[in-house]
Amino acid sequence: MIGDILAGLYPWTKALHIVSVISWMAGLFYLPRLFVHHVERAGDSGETHEIFTMMEVKLLRLIMNPAMIATWIFGLMLVFTPGIVDWSSLWPWLKGAGVIAMTWFHHWLGLRRKELLAGSNTRPGRTYRLMNEVPTLLMLLIVFSVVVKF
Ligand code: HEM
Repeated sequence: MIGDILAGLYPWTKALHIVSVISWMAGLFYLPRLFVHHVERAGDSGETHEIFTMMEVKLLRLIMNPAMIATWIFGLMLVFTPGIVDWSSLWPWLKGAGVIAMTWFHHWLGLRRKELLAGSNTRPGRTYRLMNEVPTLLMLLIVFSVVVKF
């Protein structure tokens, strides 16, 4: 019964999944960049600091959090759509590991945002430049595993 409904919705669910993924990835690429400039140019008080903290909280709460939740909801609807995921192959496990790591990175950014807001950040801009590569590497693992399906 529910399987038939999910099967009928499959192309719509996948389209909504990809739209949510694009919105989430946009934030995962941009927020670390804001942190780099916040640390290197604005410091932990003053008007520029206030502007960066406002941009960071809006990006996280208004775009990234809803997009991550939508990515998971539509992604899990796809997981439970009959015939879509063959757990005896490698790709669902590789992709699963990739999306759990991406969700951890989202959470890590949330913790750093609170530190920057409180003026208690101890990490240099260089750390955020390096961490900015994490979503790129995870995206490559996730997209190649789900499209090529090795
Ligand atoms: C957050 C948890 C996620 C779950 C549970 C999930 C699950 C799935 C499933 C089951 C499919 C259907 C595969 C098929 O139709 O053959 C799918 C499709 C897809 N997913 Fe995800 N996904 C998640 C996150 C992501 C992320 C973070 C990305 C990109 C960075 C991504 C990119 C894609 C793409 C591009 C497709 C379409 C693949 C195709 O049409 O061949 N997904 N996802």
